[in-house]
Amino acid sequence: MKKLIAGNWKMNGSLAANEKLLKDILAGLGQPACQVAVGVPAIYLAQCQALLAGTAIDLGSQDISAQEVGAYTGEISGAMLKEFGVRYAIVGHSERRQYHGETDELVALKAQRALGCGITPIVCVGETLAEREAGKTDEVVKRQLAAVIHTNGHCISEIVVAYEPVWAIGTGKTATPEMAQQVHALLRAQLKAASEHADRIQLLYGGSMNAANAASLLAQPDIDGGLIGGAALKPQDFLTIIAAAA
Ligand code: 13P
Repeated sequence: MKKLIAGNWKMNGSLAANEKLLKDILAGLGQPACQVAVGVPAIYLAQCQALLAGTAIDLGSQDISAQEVGAYTGEISGAMLKEFGVRYAIVGHSERRQYHGETDELVALKAQRALGCGITPIVCVGETLAEREAGKTDEVVKRQLAAVIHTNGHCISEIVVAYEPVWAIGTGKTATPEMAQQVHALLRAQLKAASEHADRIQLLYGGSMNAANAASLLAQPDIDGGLIGGAALKPQDFLTIIAAAA
């Protein structure tokens, strides 16, 4: 399967900065051997849609409403995202679980809504430092993924999963390739038990993936790409990671 390198810009950027970033990435991209996407702040979707039209980079959102339409102030629906060419929606990022109280059940419903709109959810799972130190990593990621499997049934083969250990996000601390692979193998087994097509589900690693460590992480058998925060804002670093996924 092709690997997927997805940037998550989080709450960074401006009209000027986005244009420069995307132009710099596109200038060095050529014909990538992997899939490439950027998850941009919702307010910049229109701008980025225009900048990315006809290019090899797909557009993503950082969230999607679990609701279809109506009185949900501040929410953005899947149908709205579709209108702006969104192919991927990140759901259940640890920052949304942590700062916005998103539960496993809500994340599962968001994934379901995305699938229903023809948007591929990038479902994030991952343990906190306290959970890892308590030996609960496997239990936590399995519980998070189980909710998504439970709600989405056989459609699960259409999702992307991102394993993002919370302690590795934005900290410069990366899971070693072996640590990441161990969790990825666990997630793969769980997906296989739920779907005969689990082999085609891309499992991304996220958490301080950068130009220096991407190749060794991406060489692991069950690491099918990366979800990149800080390094996705640096064109040369993002391009190096894309090259490492070839
Ligand atoms: P960093 O790459 O900045 O650690 O962020 C990872 C992440 O949260 C991507 O969604």
